Amino acid sequence: MAHVSNLVGEDIEAYLKQHQHKSLLRFITCGSVDDGKSTLIGRLLYDSRMIFEDQLAALEADSKIAGTRGGALDLALLVDGLAAEREQGITIDVAYRFFSTDKRKFIVADTPGHEQYTRNMVTGASTADLAIILIDARKGVLTQTRRHSYLVQLMGIRRAVLAVNKMDLVEWSKDTFDKIVADYTGFADRIGLQNIVAMPLSGLTGDNITSKSPLTPWYEGPALMQHLEEVEIDEQRRINGPFRMPVQWVNRPNADFRGFAGQIVGGAVRPGDTIRIAPSGKLSTIARIVTKDGDLREAVAGQSVTLTLTDEIDCSRGDVIAAATDPPEASDQFETTLVWMSDEPALPGRPYWLKIGARTVSASITEIKHKINVNTLEELAAKVLDLNEIAVANISVDQAIAFDTYDANPDMGGFILIDRTTNATVAAGLIHFALRRAQNVHWQSIDVTRSARAEIKNQKPAVLWFTGLSGAGKSTIANLVDKKLHSLGKHTVLLDGDNVRHGLNRDLGFTDADRVENIRRVAEVAKLMADAGLIVLVSFISPFRAERDLARRLMADGEFFEVFVDTSLADAEKRDVKGLYAKARAGQLKNFTGVNSPYERPENPEIHIDTTKLDAEAAAALIVTRLTG
Ligand code: ADX
Repeated sequence: MAHVSNLVGEDIEAYLKQHQHKSLLRFITCGSVDDGKSTLIGRLLYDSRMIFEDQLAALEADSKIAGTRGGALDLALLVDGLAAEREQGITIDVAYRFFSTDKRKFIVADTPGHEQYTRNMVTGASTADLAIILIDARKGVLTQTRRHSYLVQLMGIRRAVLAVNKMDLVEWSKDTFDKIVADYTGFADRIGLQNIVAMPLSGLTGDNITSKSPLTPWYEGPALMQHLEEVEIDEQRRINGPFRMPVQWVNRPNADFRGFAGQIVGGAVRPGDTIRIAPSGKLSTIARIVTKDGDLREAVAGQSVTLTLTDEIDCSRGDVIAAATDPPEASDQFETTLVWMSDEPALPGRPYWLKIGARTVSASITEIKHKINVNTLEELAAKVLDLNEIAVANISVDQAIAFDTYDANPDMGGFILIDRTTNATVAAGLIHFALRRAQNVHWQSIDVTRSARAEIKNQKPAVLWFTGLSGAGKSTIANLVDKKLHSLGKHTVLLDGDNVRHGLNRDLGFTDADRVENIRRVAEVAKLMADAGLIVLVSFISPFRAERDLARRLMADGEFFEVFVDTSLADAEKRDVKGLYAKARAGQLKNFTGVNSPYERPENPEIHIDTTKLDAEAAAALIVTRLTG
């Protein structure tokens, strides 16, 4: 056995070249330590000829060993993800091990089964061809087995091994094995998991691992390793699909050369092929396929190349170069499955970054249609999603993106959601289809522009966004500003939280989810009113940075003024004009801002009002000067 875990750089390349004729099977093991997973993996590694470890990043980043599936989630979650998460001191516990036998190379993703299991499994599963689902023969099918199987099916792994382990502890009983298999098959059928091969084995004793055991004369199937060596891998699937290459970056060393670099995630390409840039739809022709080892006459899915085109058309990072006759779809609204991976719950309406292929856009969940109880497969209504929960949800993004369904091409239909402040990956998502409404609702062009509307009022549209604790004095100050602007002949409108909550937002309460929606709606209304040429004063607690930022982004530069009415909680509470703090302290009011619901202070407000230094009148005067002066 040659240990090569200390190989670096060129040695790895040499090793990979030496083994490049062999097919590669990527698989994932699901189950907990108790099920004997580490023992089983150890056994596989021990009995195989070569072991790589510690080379995870290098291997994963190296397109030469790219498997038949994965890529988008793979690279995003794994490489970027790992680096980002390491910085934050969180680790995704997926250990990748690389080994090979005479027949085949293997990469196994070992995902521990603790509470972050969903994240780990999704990370590991996004690139796997096969899953080994481990069961302890003494325990049978557990909740965890069902969860893992559900995720395996969800991530599109098309082959599974049901490894009924620790058979030595049940005296190699055929009855026990048959019962577990029957039980499991029932569940697998319901979730649509097919191609399952069940095996009785023992990682500890090594029976039925590399060779058939004499202890199971009744078992007619293969030993585990033999199955892993022989199971069919659908390597052609991605290559047979339509051509797709998300553009990772544009190479322009000089005026004569413009190359589009990226990894091909579907189909094949040759010089002379007509291609379409998605989502713009523009047509062009492939001129050259450039690599560091010279030009190619053909490149296929899995390869990283630089393409040049015959003409200078618009194509930038994040666009997809695609087969002209079979391009991806483009849309800005989707039905998806989301796997939530963050301790912070998913809040519909909140802006997140969405990363798909090489493109990052702003996105929000517009509706959680239902979450799924993966044990019972029940569909449950939900307003928010918590860690490890899976749901079908509609997503909306701020610009049309090119995509295929996850089923058709996991690289083109798999995405991640990223928290805008922490940069943590909060969800993995799979696109089902574009919402029809996105195709059928168009922008209507309007001849009278917003500046024309503002001009006849002799003013510039603006939004003054007052934020601060309840009782800080937002409404008092906003009211004074409104009067001053009005007397200056400005056309204003004042949107106050308490008032808007009596009408447009009367269906909303004070949970985090409802506050997000409250602010999203009023931000949209403020934008419409600013479009009408008005100066809009918004006075809402608006406790979360993410939604205040959302409101800001709806406006042009220089039109949004975040006015932080800064009072200490003690002062606001002392005044307690509405008696609400007293109620909250008495436990009669849930989710009261400052008491049992958070307030995130603005980091860079345009106007900061310190209420201990300025009275309402002075504050209002200052704001008016800032706006008009
Ligand atoms: S926000 O957080 O969603 O922006 P908004 O400004 O609309 O809040 O409404 C805040 C007003 O609702 C407060 O001024 C107060 O009068 C009232 N209110 C009632 N319950 C609560 C609560 N739990 N937290 C904060 N304000 C509340």
